[in-house]
Amino acid sequence: MKKNKISKNWINKQRRDFYVRQSKIEGFNSRAVYKLKEIDEKFKIFKNINSVVDLGAAPGSWSQYMTSKIKSEKIVSIDLLKFEKIKNIHQIVGDFTDQSCKNRIRNYFEKKIDLIVSDMAVNTIGNKNIDSIVTGDLCLEAMNFATEELDKKGTFISKIFMGSSFNEIVAEAKRLFKSVRVYKPAASRKNSKETFIICKILK
Ligand SMILES: C[S@@+](CC[C@H](N)C(=O)[O-])C[C@H]1O[C@@H](n2cnc3c(N)ncnc32)[C@H](O)[C@@H]1O
Repeated sequence: MKKNKISKNWINKQRRDFYVRQSKIEGFNSRAVYKLKEIDEKFKIFKNINSVVDLGAAPGSWSQYMTSKIKSEKIVSIDLLKFEKIKNIHQIVGDFTDQSCKNRIRNYFEKKIDLIVSDMAVNTIGNKNIDSIVTGDLCLEAMNFATEELDKKGTFISKIFMGSSFNEIVAEAKRLFKSVRVYKPAASRKNSKETFIICKILK
């Protein structure tokens, strides 16, 4: 299929999409917000939470949602891309996998973090298998960071893809956390291999 035909199809799909329209009505920067909202409604992830790290935050809809859930100013959002300023969010533009970026997150918080979420995904190169492997690596790196920086009762949530590294990620999560659930919100497109892992309480 030619490139301009693919983008026309994408635009038409966006126009028809309920969540895209809803996000515009509610003033969210992306339809992705409804995935986090569903995860929150099911797993009550913001209960007794004072500090959050949002990894892969651009264009910022998860961070926007967080500001309605947390009253303190302890929300740190990281992305390779700069996105429009959101009130009460400390934004870091950088590559999360860089040690300097991790140090900036550590330095911002005076104590352990309550919730770390990652919606990080590589920009697609057209090869879904490679994308899913690289995104799996990002998830494992975020999980490793979470084991160092999370409060013992904290929660780690990450996007993962049903693919080659899925079993490895779930096994690693079960080794590190007491409760591990895999959940695909209705807002996650049915034809996408994307799903989410919700990990609670460090072992
Ligand atoms: C699906 S989008 C996130 C959408 C976001 N949750 C929202 O609600 O608007 C994935 C993001 O991950 C970011 N990303 C990918 N690799 C990254 C990395 N190594 N460090 C930081 N951000 C990364 C991309 O730049 C992209 O903006």
